[in-house]
Amino acid sequence: MDRETVPVATVIDELEAAQELVATRDELLRTAVRCIEGANPRYDWVGIYLLEEDTLVLHSYVGRPTEHAEIPVGVGVCGAAIAEGRDMNVPDVRAIENYLACSLETRSELVILIQDRASERIFGQIDLDSDRADAFTAEDERALQRIADWLATLFV
Ligand code: SME
Repeated sequence: MDRETVPVATVIDELEAAQELVATRDELLRTAVRCIEGANPRYDWVGIYLLEEDTLVLHSYVGRPTEHAEIPVGVGVCGAAIAEGRDMNVPDVRAIENYLACSLETRSELVILIQDRASERIFGQIDLDSDRADAFTAEDERALQRIADWLATLFV
């Protein structure tokens, strides 16, 4: 039986409540990862990578440990999203060559950029993995984009 899904507005409410209690961006990013992972049973791994010069550095995550704590821009789905300046929804990770396996169980992946839309400056990304193929819907993308936009305000 699946856990229930949580509306994106609830995740943002939780982040705003946390923002009143804790001051630091690091804590809010960790809270975001926890809330997002808890929001949908299809989200088996959720992490936030921050862009430091030409490298994505894993800030925090919930899920199985990964060896990809640092990913150069252009490498893997995560690095390609930065290089191409766009979100990535990969329905079947086994079908693409430029993929870095976090876990052999993972079947699909969604990468949403954390960026200031006005200046197009990219701060990092939310990375989600699912053990189900084709797990991420257009609704997931929109929901995660709203959360990413909220997180981007922590950087501007
Ligand atoms: N699959 C990602 C690497 C990150 S792990 O999934 C946590 C990629 O191809 O860039």
